[in-house]
Amino acid sequence: MKIADILPDLLSLTSKALRRSEIRELLKLTRQPGVISFAGGLPFPGLFPAEEMKDAVNTVLDKESELALQYGPTEGDSRLIEYLANWMREDEGMQIDNDNIMIVSGSQQALDLIGKVFIDPGDPIVVGLPSYLGALQAFSAHRARLIGVALDKQGMDVDRVEEILKDHKEKGERIKFIYIVPDFQNPSGVTMSLERRERLLDLCYEYGTIVIEDSPYRALRFEGESLPMVGAMDKKGYAFSLHTFSKILFPGARLGWIMANSTIMDKLIMAKQPTDLCTSPFCQSVVYEFCRRGLLKPHIKKIVKVYRKKRDRMLQALEEYIPEGAGIDWTHPEGGLFLWVCLPEHLDAEKLLIKAVEKKVAYVIGSAFHFDRSGKNTMRLNFSYPSEEQIDEGIKRLAGVIREAL
Ligand SMILES: Cc1ncc(COP(=O)(O)O)c(C=O)c1O
Repeated sequence: MKIADILPDLLSLTSKALRRSEIRELLKLTRQPGVISFAGGLPFPGLFPAEEMKDAVNTVLDKESELALQYGPTEGDSRLIEYLANWMREDEGMQIDNDNIMIVSGSQQALDLIGKVFIDPGDPIVVGLPSYLGALQAFSAHRARLIGVALDKQGMDVDRVEEILKDHKEKGERIKFIYIVPDFQNPSGVTMSLERRERLLDLCYEYGTIVIEDSPYRALRFEGESLPMVGAMDKKGYAFSLHTFSKILFPGARLGWIMANSTIMDKLIMAKQPTDLCTSPFCQSVVYEFCRRGLLKPHIKKIVKVYRKKRDRMLQALEEYIPEGAGIDWTHPEGGLFLWVCLPEHLDAEKLLIKAVEKKVAYVIGSAFHFDRSGKNTMRLNFSYPSEEQIDEGIKRLAGVIREAL
């Protein structure tokens, strides 16, 4: 018997439901030589603190190799947790103890663990239209039933969330959770207003559901006043907040942290154990050493300065090259890595991408972030990875493609 013949009987229903992401295929297209890519979501590698890391690695190996090279606790290195808890308490007003934090192997792992802990096949959850693709993949892998709610420039439409919660309650069904990226959302760059954060939390209390606040970009604010984290506003343990070192330090560390009520933390720890036993103790030790030396916050300041300039350059180029009065709109992100372009309804960003790649510029089609494949006339542009010159030239090329299509 060939393995292919017996696989259908061997594979789980979950793995049968897994689909190769079309977006990965499209991204391959954008990686051709000479293409200026606004498609990835990568931090700028020129900002990685390689020298400081080299030093931190040497110190860790000289002073604590027995700890760093050994297995560690599933919940994470207690020194790193202490550092993060202090940061979150002092700067974010989070009312947490150290045991409300678990270190994870990137916040992507936290999304998967949340799926494992909360979702049974067919369970309804609320996500944004658009939403971060990795979250949609993680929740779909646990076979959640996704219910989409549109976003506008104030974030998720909470009136619509209320209708959904009410409808489901009437049917005797409970929405398991509401997933949001409230600060400089991936993909749209939009920040959720304070009123909506408050209202969303009130709705969770009223209807008995939780909110997953995924905030990888929160520390990357270029302008405007920071709004409180939903987790900091929550007094009842209904909010779960996810953070990561990926965008403020480097993604190769694969280090993030989840903050949750202690009654559920145990479940999250138990869900993580069979996945990887623990997040790399070596990476945790090295990143802790970097933080202990007081290097993290100045490093974030440095990144913010560079990304603000890149964002400004992209906004300036859009103003300059995109034809006025053509019904093309874009977001003005106050931080993060992305902005979102909305074309007139009749334009299809996927068809346009083929032409854009011919002209050597690329982006991600907005429909990739809509689980229902809506948002055909939208696109996500990343400004952290390309240089300022590439941003200017890339937007010029993109504007040319759009003008032709119009
Ligand atoms: C909203 C959001 N959540 C989670 C992640 C995953 O981050 P990590 O590298 O910490 O796994 C990303 C990565 O781009 C993201 O944009």
